[in-house]
Amino acid sequence: MCGIAGYIGYREAYPIVVNGLKRLEYRGYDSAGIMMYDGKKMHLSKTKGKVSDLELITEKETERKHGTIGIGHTRWATHGVPNDTNSHPHFSQSGDLVLVHNGIIENYDTIKKELISRGYTFKSDTDTEVLINLIEEVKKKENCKLGKAVQLALTQVVGAYAIAVFDITKPNEIVVARLGSPIAIGVGKDNKEFFIASDTSPFIEFTKKAIYLEDGELAIIKKDKEIKVRQIKDDKLINADIQKLQLSLEQIEKGGYEHFMLKEIHEQPRAIVDTYRGRMLPDEGVIKMAGIDDNMSKFLNADRIIIVACGTSWHAGLVGEYLFEDMARIPVEVEYASEFRYRNPIITSKDVVIAISQSGETADTLAAIKLAKSKGAFVFGVCNVVGSSIARETHAGAYTHAGPEIGVASTKAFTTQITVLSLIALKLAKEKGSLSTSAFQAYLQTMQLIPGQIEKLLEIDEHVKSIAAVYKNAKNCLYLGRGYNFPVALEGALKLKEISYIHAEGYPAAEMKHGPIALIDENMPIFVIATNKGHYEKVVSNIQEIKSRSGKIIAVVTEGDTTVKEIADHVIEIPETEEAFTPLLTTIPFQLLSYHIAVMLDKNVDQPRNLAKSVTVE
Ligand code: M6R
Repeated sequence: MCGIAGYIGYREAYPIVVNGLKRLEYRGYDSAGIMMYDGKKMHLSKTKGKVSDLELITEKETERKHGTIGIGHTRWATHGVPNDTNSHPHFSQSGDLVLVHNGIIENYDTIKKELISRGYTFKSDTDTEVLINLIEEVKKKENCKLGKAVQLALTQVVGAYAIAVFDITKPNEIVVARLGSPIAIGVGKDNKEFFIASDTSPFIEFTKKAIYLEDGELAIIKKDKEIKVRQIKDDKLINADIQKLQLSLEQIEKGGYEHFMLKEIHEQPRAIVDTYRGRMLPDEGVIKMAGIDDNMSKFLNADRIIIVACGTSWHAGLVGEYLFEDMARIPVEVEYASEFRYRNPIITSKDVVIAISQSGETADTLAAIKLAKSKGAFVFGVCNVVGSSIARETHAGAYTHAGPEIGVASTKAFTTQITVLSLIALKLAKEKGSLSTSAFQAYLQTMQLIPGQIEKLLEIDEHVKSIAAVYKNAKNCLYLGRGYNFPVALEGALKLKEISYIHAEGYPAAEMKHGPIALIDENMPIFVIATNKGHYEKVVSNIQEIKSRSGKIIAVVTEGDTTVKEIADHVIEIPETEEAFTPLLTTIPFQLLSYHIAVMLDKNVDQPRNLAKSVTVE
């Protein structure tokens, strides 16, 4: 994980790098650092804590902030605890070279021992300090320039990296490289300046032109010169593709909301419309998705669909399982990418693998894709971040158009993933004839109502807030749902635990009797999804069972429900919709509830402890 930001050009680099790091804090926020080059000297500032802590250090020392070249880092610790010493950037032994790194050097220990035997000493516990000294050693031994030294050093390295390296003996360039961790280069007008970052958000107000480095590539960035990109292994020069960015500054700001998470919850109506716009055409009675249309035979002839994902995206995948099996009658397996990739799974060329990822950078999901491809499966990606590693690694795909999701807790990513999966399931169902034309048409009409219904549902905020106030001190919570809403129960529990640190578990409602029921007493809040479709009566029975054991029931019901209202301690009403689309609505109150509880408990909503938005380590 970790975020990298850098600048080389004619402007003062400090504000660009520091503001860029703030935008990248979603990638990690346990320490931060910057190296500024003022034309003569390098100035290093680094600290445990956030980028705002780094600013406190540099506040009064203007010389630390001066210069037109800078590289910075915001860290999510892997090797070595978060402290000042382990923070990046790291210098080489001579003090000439400096490096920021996102990723893990797996064979760092072997390299470190070798370097120690050659007289190197280390200040930190990081793999990064090992890498910068390896580069220094290669540079000395081969008597070569920085670019060559980085390239040769990287051929000795096992692991994942996105790096930016600066050499004071050649202070007109920054060398960057990637393998498994993302890095983008913003290209300024007439090559007069360049921006380096883990994603394009740090430089969006300066340039709309960017190069996304591919795995195994290295770039030498010099002011006033064309960027040179080459392959690390075979030294081949690459014609780097300069892409036009669509991202806007407005999209990555809070827009008047107190937290990104709240903004993103409220963006869901717009995000869902953006996700189906141009694809779902109810008047024509079709769904157009190029990635599916171009590969229709693969889907129709598939023995099964395997969905791989992590976290919230895995929960969306579970909803996908219900959608595909229910509508398109295709068998589906949903796998945690981290288990799938290490399980020696049986995959054939008759399998279609769907990889779901908001960031498009999740290491385990990426590895699962590579494994599936190596076994001949067709791999389809559902990603939010355009140009991300997963989007590029898959054979075809469909983007969710949620816009940047910055809050660590996924909200709009989840609902837009479900939207894409619904569109695919409906499209396949139509093609296979497993849904009648009228049923297909009815689904499309109903889907069109969802954004407006969410808009209306968001008006219950105060009601949800009052429920949050009652249960904010709970130690444990249960979330129950059946069918399409079982994954929502899992997602509701995940939202609560990740931002409020309250222990919560999601269960299929009927499973309660097989264990969790033992936990129920008058102190246990139980959130139950009891919409009027599917297994309503069964869920009502489960609610009765909870009531008889004095559990506190907070039920999400369909508007107009009277039965559950009589039994539950609190109800939250959602509008009427097709059962298949209920997750798009039932998840909203749980998002709001978790948000309010976290705010009431004074937790860091957007950057919860120990987490990072983009999990690029396994
Ligand atoms: O970017 P991805 O969708 O691949 O991320 C997967 C999980 O890390 C992510 O969904 C995580 O569980 C969220 N923080 C949950 O809110």
